[in-house]
Amino acid sequence: MRATGPLLQVDRSHSARLCEVLQGGKKHFPVDRAAAAGLLRIAPNAAEVALAGRAFVIAAVRHVVACGTALIADLGSGLPGPDGTNTHEVAVRVDSSAHTVYVDNDPIVLVHGRALLREPSAVIVEADLRQPTSVAARLLSEWIPGSGVGLVMTSVLHHLSDQEDPGAIVEQLCAAMPDGSFLVISHLCGDGLHPKDASAAAAVYAKTSSPLYLRSAEQIRHLFGGTRLLGPGVVEVSSWHPHRARQGDESSGRWHLLGGVAEIRPAA
Ligand SMILES: C[S@@+](CC[C@H](N)C(=O)[O-])C[C@H]1O[C@@H](n2cnc3c(N)ncnc32)[C@H](O)[C@@H]1O
Repeated sequence: MRATGPLLQVDRSHSARLCEVLQGGKKHFPVDRAAAAGLLRIAPNAAEVALAGRAFVIAAVRHVVACGTALIADLGSGLPGPDGTNTHEVAVRVDSSAHTVYVDNDPIVLVHGRALLREPSAVIVEADLRQPTSVAARLLSEWIPGSGVGLVMTSVLHHLSDQEDPGAIVEQLCAAMPDGSFLVISHLCGDGLHPKDASAAAAVYAKTSSPLYLRSAEQIRHLFGGTRLLGPGVVEVSSWHPHRARQGDESSGRWHLLGGVAEIRPAA
């Protein structure tokens, strides 16, 4: 597929490209740098948080593949990052037979993904998380029998409104997954942020392809529904480790990303 002018939308920032600017990447346009600059004025630690978010994805994927999941579904995958940091690359380093399905609804992400993904260990598909039944059907068409699925939804659910009901979407996807599956979520948290800063950040995202809905730590924990959280539970992504206990509540008053990893259907 060729990237055409209208597809690139250089006059409007995209959440994937905004995230990429914050992570120090190069696949963006002046409009994305302007949006990132606006966000950094409100949230000076936003770049640090974006990098910690990627480190969390790497640690979580490594862990769920080590636990025996051979299919990783990276939903709301965003733009490919530097070599070696992408989900499929992390997964195959742990298990050479691991397969990754990247899912995104942004044409720009799909153009970049298709241009860069040449490995047989990964595929990128266009789908919208707001249609969880068709997303689940697409994932199960790639399922590797005898293994679980690692559902990775990092920094994407905060782009869905309460009306779009991210909790129900997660629940439906989890219900369709085979035994031995895992859930990985990260989500920007509004706890401790001054309401003026929270609405200024939402205003930056309102001008991009994906609006922002900050949620409380309690609401983010709720997204895990009846799954069994591992290690410390839902914590600042930079503190997450599968074998680390919770170190107390962290509500820094700064821009912060919470994350957790759970077994979807824990053995009784
Ligand atoms: C901030 S990026 C996150 C990228 C990556 N998951 C990470 O953790 O760094 C959010 C991505 O979610 C995608 N996205 C937003 N809403 C979506 C939806 N309803 N369905 C699928 N993808 C969506 C955006 O296009 C974007 O690529």
